[in-house]
Amino acid sequence: MASEVIRIIKERRSVREYLPRHISKEVLEDIVDCGRLAPSARNLQPWLFVVSTEKTIKEEIAKLAVHGRFIANAAACISVFCERENNHPVEDGSAATQNILIAAKAHGIDSCWVAGYKKEHSESVREFLGVPQKYMLISLIALGYSDKTVNKPKKALSEVIRWEKY
Ligand SMILES: Cc1cc2nc3c(=O)[nH]c(=O)nc-3n(C[C@H](O)[C@H](O)[C@H](O)COP(=O)(O)O)c2cc1C
Repeated sequence: MASEVIRIIKERRSVREYLPRHISKEVLEDIVDCGRLAPSARNLQPWLFVVSTEKTIKEEIAKLAVHGRFIANAAACISVFCERENNHPVEDGSAATQNILIAAKAHGIDSCWVAGYKKEHSESVREFLGVPQKYMLISLIALGYSDKTVNKPKKALSEVIRWEKY
């Protein structure tokens, strides 16, 4: 079990091209369930997840998010919001986002995190989705089955690890 989770974490990469294959509601719910179980400051769980699968909605989000045009071709887009009046909305929303990426991969679904926090589209996406003003957009997550393999180079462990002190 532990080795399976570690394999999934190590194999996850951002994928931006998807097959035209539907993701079931049960699987999307399970993925969001993993998001809502993320840690949050004082366990306030300030998040809200909007799952969009309708073509016209995904296309509009893609139009608004300059660096997320591929959302239009994703099977689903999960918009992660957190309440603004909260101590750690960015950290909480990011923890939930990462859980979602890993849960999706565990279901054999690829994904890409598209920036939502403090972007020119943060408010327009929120308004388009009809989400109340008390929430702020943290991320947009494109999801889809894919046959693409991506292997972005990563820094070596030895480059980024220090023991005890720098
Ligand atoms: C906070 C954050 C914002 C990101 N925003 C975008 C984005 O707007 N568009 C995009 O295509 N990828 C975006 N990405 C994905 C990164 O480009 C990607 O994670 C990075 O290149 C490393 O590749 P990997 O995810 O395959 O390991 C974002 C990732 C993070 C963590």
